[in-house]
Amino acid sequence: MQLVFATHNQNKFNEVKALMPSYIELLSLTDIGCFNEIPETAQTLEGNAQLKSNFVTEKYGLNCFSDDTGLLVVALGGAPGVYSARYAGEQKSATDNMNKLLSELHDKNNRQAKFKTVIALNLEHESILFTGAVEGEITHEKNGTDGFGYDPIFKPLTYNKTFAELPMSIKNKISHRGKAVQKLISHLIK
Ligand code: IMP
Repeated sequence: MQLVFATHNQNKFNEVKALMPSYIELLSLTDIGCFNEIPETAQTLEGNAQLKSNFVTEKYGLNCFSDDTGLLVVALGGAPGVYSARYAGEQKSATDNMNKLLSELHDKNNRQAKFKTVIALNLEHESILFTGAVEGEITHEKNGTDGFGYDPIFKPLTYNKTFAELPMSIKNKISHRGKAVQKLISHLIK
């Protein structure tokens, strides 16, 4: 069975591919010749995930899923949330985003945060959402070189290391995306 994962982010693609059963042939946007930057103009993670999946299904007629992720920081009232990618500007730089977040939190004792992922699946004639979340805290400095995005400053509750210090196999077991993908897989094998 072929399924498109609508992302240009190779790190995300690798994480999800590592979880997929072998009978699912996971295709990237590059594999289907889609080089567009798909607009993410919705106000919610659910809306953005659906926009990305619908773009592929409508333009290419393929079964597809996409994910949209937000980092919700308690002391910032849930920011950056749905605006996580562009938190420090349109350049969507992970370094700039992390620096801005560390600076916003420099005088805050409450470092609690949560990653939330929404996956939107378009399969034949059904559209369905799956969510996953992981609780943790924002560290005071960047640690680790694995992963991507905010990983160097996010420490999940159950480990004393940031996501960027943990191997992908462990991140996948406990992460927002890993949990959402497990729900997606359970649905696919029903
Ligand atoms: P999007 O889902 O690609 O729009 O991601 C929104 C923002 O969250 C981007 O800045 C990503 O780099 C970041 N992000 C998404 N997933 C993760 C993750 O698993 N770890 C760290 N940052 C992430």
